[in-house]
Amino acid sequence: MSPLRLPGPPQRVKDPHRLIAESGADLEGHGLKRTMGLFQLVCFGVGAVVGTGIFVGLSDSVAEAGPAVVVSFVLAAVTCVFTALSFAELGSAIPVSGSSYSFAYATLGERLAFLVGWCLLLEYGVSVSAVAVGWSQYVNELLDSLLGYRLPDVLSAGPGDGGVINLPAVIVVMMAATLLVRGVRESAAATAAMAVLKLTVLALFCVIAFTAFERGHLTPFAAHGASGVTAGASLAFFSYIGFDAITTAGEEVKNPRRNIPVAIMICIGLVTLLYCAVALAAIGALGPEAVSDKPAALSLIVDQVTGSSVGGGVIAFGAVVAIASVVLAVMYGQTRILMSMSRDGLVPRVFERVSPRTSTPVANTWIVAVVFAVPAAFSSLGMVVNLTTIGTLATMVAVNTAVIVLRRRNPEVKGRFRVPLHPLGPLLGVVFCVYLMYGTGWTTWVQFAVFLAAGALVYAGYGRRRSRLADTA
Ligand code: ALA
Repeated sequence: MSPLRLPGPPQRVKDPHRLIAESGADLEGHGLKRTMGLFQLVCFGVGAVVGTGIFVGLSDSVAEAGPAVVVSFVLAAVTCVFTALSFAELGSAIPVSGSSYSFAYATLGERLAFLVGWCLLLEYGVSVSAVAVGWSQYVNELLDSLLGYRLPDVLSAGPGDGGVINLPAVIVVMMAATLLVRGVRESAAATAAMAVLKLTVLALFCVIAFTAFERGHLTPFAAHGASGVTAGASLAFFSYIGFDAITTAGEEVKNPRRNIPVAIMICIGLVTLLYCAVALAAIGALGPEAVSDKPAALSLIVDQVTGSSVGGGVIAFGAVVAIASVVLAVMYGQTRILMSMSRDGLVPRVFERVSPRTSTPVANTWIVAVVFAVPAAFSSLGMVVNLTTIGTLATMVAVNTAVIVLRRRNPEVKGRFRVPLHPLGPLLGVVFCVYLMYGTGWTTWVQFAVFLAAGALVYAGYGRRRSRLADTA
């Protein structure tokens, strides 16, 4: 079967055997070290996923869906599970860094792969900025809880939020870059510690909030009907973004054909149980109104349930840690995707350079940090959440499609994991992704169209001419 047809010149498709061979060749020279086991990988996934979405975004989802937000979480999780199965199959068959970008290159062709890589700038790069802004808000919440002191707005918010520059957001981006350039072993260990801590803090929240649980707070269950549940699901999806970061670490994982699919499944299952428990505990304790549209709602609830500000301070501390670890993991994913695109000649070669001393892409990491520190300094979280969501869902549509294409074009390229009920599973993945994209609203669609058009121009002006596949095809 030929790759998906688009108008214009014929598309270049990267042979999956070549992708794997290129990755293997790197292991012998100055490539990345295989240091990550299953536990580290699950922690890495949790580190990328649990953060702003649950600590900040939960209150927006509850405002839309009411107690039925648990259904919204399950809908978002089902979307992720179908897509994760596709990721798992591709990750076990083509265990290389680069995530959906590499998979698209091997199946859908260079042009779509470039656009998938372009959309990953929304999922990873822009969300680094966004999540850093969320981190800054919680730093202020923590300072307030512990010391009764808040940073002035001029130093802790961008112009859109009544400030001048968001310094804490810039600082967390730079701290993450510093850890990443020091090497994946140390970064993964830091991520593991933070992941365990954040799970513990959220579990503690559930234990405290469930002591005040009243069943009456859960009725009416779906106050805003099916449309509220749909809007809630699109918002809730943000809390799951990042699970595919596990596949961006393909070249640094021990036994990737087994560990990548297993880690993705454990990560989504664990996180879904946690989110539903947190939502039920929060709403059950004080009712949906107390959770809706409230900043730092989890801290607020614990304060009210315990009658002291100590508990809220602990939750704020957890949020600061959780969100910092998201910045770390998401920035890691962005650097590895750019590295893959650079190897293919689609972005400048500086992004593929690995330092022989640290075995990490040092220049790449600092460029990413500096570029995405700018929106972190000057923008607000709300501006970019929907755009991040729609961009991520678009890459997931590509991943589900890629499985179907790979099986037809290269049936000999297979790993240990195969999507059950193929092609129904990947097709359902596409349907769920489009459903959640629909829920983001037309304004987001227009912004996304402009973003894609800009990507197409960059590809036409740079990527297509510099592509190494063009040199060797
Ligand atoms: N899923 C990530 C978060 O919730 C983006 O912060």
